[in-house]
Amino acid sequence: MSNSQVEKKLAAEKAVSFLKDGMVVGLGTGNTAEYAIKAIGELVKKNGLRIKGIPTSENSKKLAETLGIPLTDFSKDTSIDITIDGADEFDPYLRLIKGGGGALLREKIVASATKKNIVIVDASKKVNRLGKFLLPVEIIPFAKELIIKKLEELGLSPKIRMDKDRPFLTDENNLIIDLNIIQQRNLEYLEKRLKSIPGIVETGLFLSTTGMVIMGEGNEVKTFE
Ligand code: 5RP
Repeated sequence: MSNSQVEKKLAAEKAVSFLKDGMVVGLGTGNTAEYAIKAIGELVKKNGLRIKGIPTSENSKKLAETLGIPLTDFSKDTSIDITIDGADEFDPYLRLIKGGGGALLREKIVASATKKNIVIVDASKKVNRLGKFLLPVEIIPFAKELIIKKLEELGLSPKIRMDKDRPFLTDENNLIIDLNIIQQRNLEYLEKRLKSIPGIVETGLFLSTTGMVIMGEGNEVKTFE
């Protein structure tokens, strides 16, 4: 296992130690979140942990079902106790870029309904300033050309995300556009500006939802709150 995989697994294992019987748990998406879902599966199977999961993507749903993790949804539970999810970058204020795996819309909805969001990462995700990773935004296909024109005018170098030779489609059958935000100083303003463009459904900027970041670094685990 590579160093970053060890770090992701360590962070995931630490995060699941916060789970308790009776909790509703948001299940994140991506490689790091998969380690957490697998660890939860073990606890459910071997230790009889009684939780209900709300997955943030079809992939995470399939994995949780395979592992026998009981699932719920917003028709039955509108409040989530803890969500464990990954990130593409986090800064000293625990602000995040997410959406590298294309699940940012459901991830943001789940994060917004969660009392404590725990973000699990390897050490490569820690940055002083967000933006080296391109910012994903989810858009309605109908508005693609209009949105691209606006984003170009804003100097954000929009690029439609591809899946081999065709556009990547999200779980909601939307498109992802990746943006270069490295020059952007005011992320709160950027978030508002992007969300004001009709057809942009959501952005991968998570500016105020994170309660705790758990980072694997070498063989250690560091916590930021
Ligand atoms: C998916 C995400 C992921 O949490 C993010 O891309 C990190 O992925 P990984 O754990 O595979 O490094 O936001 O939409």
